[in-house]
Amino acid sequence: MIQFFHVHKSYQGQPALTDVSLTVDKAEFVFLTGPSGAGKTTLLELIFCAERAQKGQILVNGRNVARIRASAVPYLRRNIGVVFQDFKLLPSATVFDNVALALHVLGRPRREIRRKVGEILAAVGLEHKVDSPPARLSGGEQQRVALARALVNDPAILLADEPTGNLDPERTDEIMALLAKVNTRGATVMVATHDRNLLTRWHRRVLTLDRGRLMTGASPPEDPAGAITEMETFPSSRPGRGSR
Ligand SMILES: Nc1ncnc2c1ncn2[C@@H]1O[C@H](COP(=O)(O)OP(=O)(O)O)[C@@H](O)[C@H]1O
Ligand SMILES: [Mg+2]
Repeated sequence: MIQFFHVHKSYQGQPALTDVSLTVDKAEFVFLTGPSGAGKTTLLELIFCAERAQKGQILVNGRNVARIRASAVPYLRRNIGVVFQDFKLLPSATVFDNVALALHVLGRPRREIRRKVGEILAAVGLEHKVDSPPARLSGGEQQRVALARALVNDPAILLADEPTGNLDPERTDEIMALLAKVNTRGATVMVATHDRNLLTRWHRRVLTLDRGRLMTGASPPEDPAGAITEMETFPSSRPGRGSR
């Protein structure tokens, strides 16, 4: 579960998030939306301690990460998969090594690493690129490597920053279906996007930021049974381009 209480974050005195309070339940899937510069990336960064808030509390699975010691951050991150807006892949290591890295760090056996990396690369449709360096992949392929890397460790929380930004509509559907599947297996998923088509096509709770303030969606739906039914509703056909 993720909770913000009156969180303020500024960069060099310029507010990026102002008095943000929100709750995301365990195993919920939520969108975070708003125009460029609204604070979406900053909000995700606060959750995994890439940035620190100046004021307020942030609880992630019951821990106040706004006050966590630097030495405890790696442990927090073991439970959080992150897909960055700019991927942050190692450009000259292979796709395999990029995805395997987190498992190596955890000291998993080599055989388990091969199996898990193979499975997740197949799930994102990149099993044939296993030996390529990301520098030789397209933007959309790199995005899928970044997603595979975030998912390979079975994280309890997945944070994805514009995960479909470079993808065509078919790949977008595949990636969203994969995120939905991870969610139905019990992971909490937060997807930052400015793509309004995603929000109309996938019916999930929407948290809207505008100039650092949360305008809608601060709390989970009141009726949990209704929420679960909706979470299981997969869209059946693709809307026309530009549809709202
Ligand atoms: N590292 C940083 N240093 C200074 N300003 C930043 C930094 N990161 C974000 N900002 C500013 O904070 C605001 C929110 O940015 P961001 O969280 O990236 O928004 P979004 O992801 O919604 O586009 C913007 O005004 C942006 O310029
Ligand atoms: Mg952003």
